[in-house]
Amino acid sequence: MNPTTPAPAIEATGLRKAYGDKLVLDGIDLHVPRGTVFALLGPNGAGKTTTVQILSTLIRADGGEARVAGHDVAAAAQTVRAAIGVTGQFSAVDNLITGEENMALMADLHHLPRPEGARVTAELLARFDLVEAAKKPASTYSGGMRRRLDIAMTLVGSPEVIFLDEPTTGLDPRSRHTMWQIIRDLVAGGVTVFLTTQYLEEADQLADRIAVLSGGRIVAEGTPDELKRLVPGGHVRLRFLDPAELARAAQVLDVGTRDDEALTLQVPGDGSVHTLRALFDILDGASITVDSLTVHTPDLDDVFFAVTGRPDHEKVQAR
Ligand SMILES: Nc1ncnc2c1ncn2[C@@H]1O[C@H](COP(=O)(O)OP(=O)(O)OP(=O)(O)O)[C@@H](O)[C@H]1O
Ligand SMILES: [Mg+2]
Repeated sequence: MNPTTPAPAIEATGLRKAYGDKLVLDGIDLHVPRGTVFALLGPNGAGKTTTVQILSTLIRADGGEARVAGHDVAAAAQTVRAAIGVTGQFSAVDNLITGEENMALMADLHHLPRPEGARVTAELLARFDLVEAAKKPASTYSGGMRRRLDIAMTLVGSPEVIFLDEPTTGLDPRSRHTMWQIIRDLVAGGVTVFLTTQYLEEADQLADRIAVLSGGRIVAEGTPDELKRLVPGGHVRLRFLDPAELARAAQVLDVGTRDDEALTLQVPGDGSVHTLRALFDILDGASITVDSLTVHTPDLDDVFFAVTGRPDHEKVQAR
């Protein structure tokens, strides 16, 4: 490697992990440049938390290699730990003590001298809008406050790389947006964020790159836009007043999928004003009246279902 290029924040090749005869990770590769947000998406049980645990040195992989902040997670676990912060899927907040005490505990764990610890704690509590709540037991906090405290605790050690395992699960829309802003601010400050999420919109909003984990493998990887381009789902659905109009439209347009019962014609297209105008020009030219139209642009949900399969197994389990 060119010595002037800094090592990527995270680099993993062929990571494998099994629990008994259950293969969880079947050889996954990851590359996360510094100062970016990487989102790992996947259905329940896909192995997201397992991946975070391996990269953050909490568990060991059975095979493959991973380097985080330039160091091998197996051979230099201590060095990696000093460079990272982890906010687990389940809160690390101690409910019996106050927010401020939770922070002080973290400062001690990081061996910060007392005055320095107090300064960092005060600064982070202010930054995460927890000053008023600081002296109350964490058991009285709302889910959003607890999540903010969790992240504030993660930041005590000034980590270069932060792992956030489902940071917004269970938060209301407003708290979720607050969390998104926190993540954006972290990245603006040069931190690398590796997050897992169930929410495609979240990955779309935040991530520079997204990987979808399914069946132990990364089944899709790219920027949000690249992933959306993987599915050709964009279409315009035109509805007509009677079968005769539908038949004529199908004839003049000569594309798309026709549904005689619903009186609709589904035409591939991105739904832009330009393509809609072109469509209407043709229909107007043939004096065909459209009753209504809907535009469907492919989103990450389409990608997710296309690459992980529709969640049919959930129906099976529900029986
Ligand atoms: N300590 C363990 N012992 C045995 N099996 C485990 C252990 N930890 C995880 N697993 C199994 O590994 C698989 C992946 O679990 P993991 O927690 O990584 O999934 P996840 O993608 O984080 O899921 P979720 O979205 O529900 O958090 C699951 O089938 C889980 O039951
Ligand atoms: Mg998990």
